[in-house]
Parts: sequence; structure tokens; C-alpha cells
Amino acid sequence: MKPENLSFEEAATIPAGGLTALKNLQKANISKGQKILINGASGSLGTFAIQLAKYFGVEVTAVCSEKNFELVKSIGADKVIDYTKEDFTKINEKYDIVYDAVMKSTKAKCKRILKENGIFFKNSQLPKTEEKDLLFLKDIIENGEMKPVIDRIYSIEQIVEAHEYVDKGHKKGNVVIKID
Ligand SMILES: NC(=O)c1ccc[n+]([C@@H]2O[C@H](COP(=O)([O-])OP(=O)(O)OC[C@H]3O[C@@H](n4cnc5c(N)ncnc54)[C@H](OP(=O)(O)O)[C@@H]3O)[C@@H](O)[C@H]2O)c1
Repeated sequence: MKPENLSFEEAATIPAGGLTALKNLQKANISKGQKILINGASGSLGTFAIQLAKYFGVEVTAVCSEKNFELVKSIGADKVIDYTKEDFTKINEKYDIVYDAVMKSTKAKCKRILKENGIFFKNSQLPKTEEKDLLFLKDIIENGEMKPVIDRIYSIEQIVEAHEYVDKGHKKGNVVIKID
């Protein structure tokens, strides 16, 4: 089941961030030609969502801080907004979907930038793991259309340190715990 072109550490991110991003986007009926804004685009869900949205043929605006612009562009973001300098809810654009991956905004705040039937959503709980979804993700990964972004890999002995790092809320992509 592991994608052949991923290490075990990389593959471990797929049933969490990868699957959650996929199920969220599917629930929002993402479809070719749409425009999506992803808030928290440099986190685990954000980096998966950018790549999935591009796979589905959607224009992506990524909201993250400037230090992550290069990262999000390298995985497909078409436009970038630095949340430390600009309030994305005040821009003159309209989106089909606003995905608040970092869970810092609200539907009411995003109303101005949503098209008439636009959809705003935050993260669901970790979705039920279904084989068909994992096989879909495996397929697009093996076709080179998605790759997990790994920030740090910690050993199981460093799990407290790992949680402290993640809890700061500034990781780039995914943090993995390696169990030998
Ligand atoms: N990962 C999963 O599998 C999963 C599954 C379900 C739910 N969740 C929940 O979903 C949320 C996001 O998790 P995550 O793992 O994707 O990311 P995360 O670890 O929360 O990382 C957030 C990323 O967003 C950026 N960020 C921080 N504050 C921001 C703000 N105000 N506006 C825009 N960007 C901001 C950070 O970059 P800067 O350094 O630039 O600030 C960082 O790269 C968390 O609440 C988590 O509990 C996660």
C-alpha cells in the first residue's frame, strides 16, 4: 500500500494530513476551473491541499508568511499572501472555496471574498480511512503529482520535543516520529 517512491517517514503523513485534506476538498466539491484560497498553506493540511487543488485543476492562492512563499510556490501555489502583512479577508478577489486549514478565521469574516455560492470550511476530524482514498493518493503520488513536505523527523525518545515544536504552530508541512 505504501507509495513506491516514498520513504516510510514520508508515507506516514498520508493517512493523516493527506487524507484529511483530500476529504475536505471532496466535501467542498472541488472542481476544475475553480479558485481556492488556502489559509495556513504552509502546514501539513495546507501543503497537501495546494497539491491536491492543482491536481483537480484549480487556481490556488496560498496564505502563509513570506518565509514560506518559496515552498508553497514550489508545490503549485499560483498566488501568495503574507498573513503578517495583509488581511486576506479584505482583498478584492472572489473565491469558490476558502479552506481555513489553520483554523484562524470564520465564515462571516470570509463572506466578502466568497462567490455567491462559495464554500468556506475548516478541518473536519480525522476522516474515516477508506482504502479507495488511500489508493487514490498512492496513485497521484506515484505519478509525481503530490509529495509530502517534511519539516523534521524525531525519534520516539524525542516525542516531547516534537510536540513542543508542533505546538508552536509554525511547522512547514509535516513532523514525523520515527519508531525503529
Ligand atoms: N495535520 C493533520 O493531520 C490534521 C488533521 C486534522 C486537523 N488538524 C488541525 O488543523 C490545523 C492545522 O494543522 P497543520 O498540521 O496543517 O498545520 P500547523 O502545524 O498548525 O501549521 C500551520 C502553518 O500555518 C502557518 N500559520 C500559523 N499561523 C497562521 C495564521 N494566522 N495564518 C496563516 N498561516 C498561519 C504556519 O506558518 P508560519 O510559520 O508562517 O506562521 C505553519 O506553517 C491544526 O489546528 C490541527 O490541529 C490537523
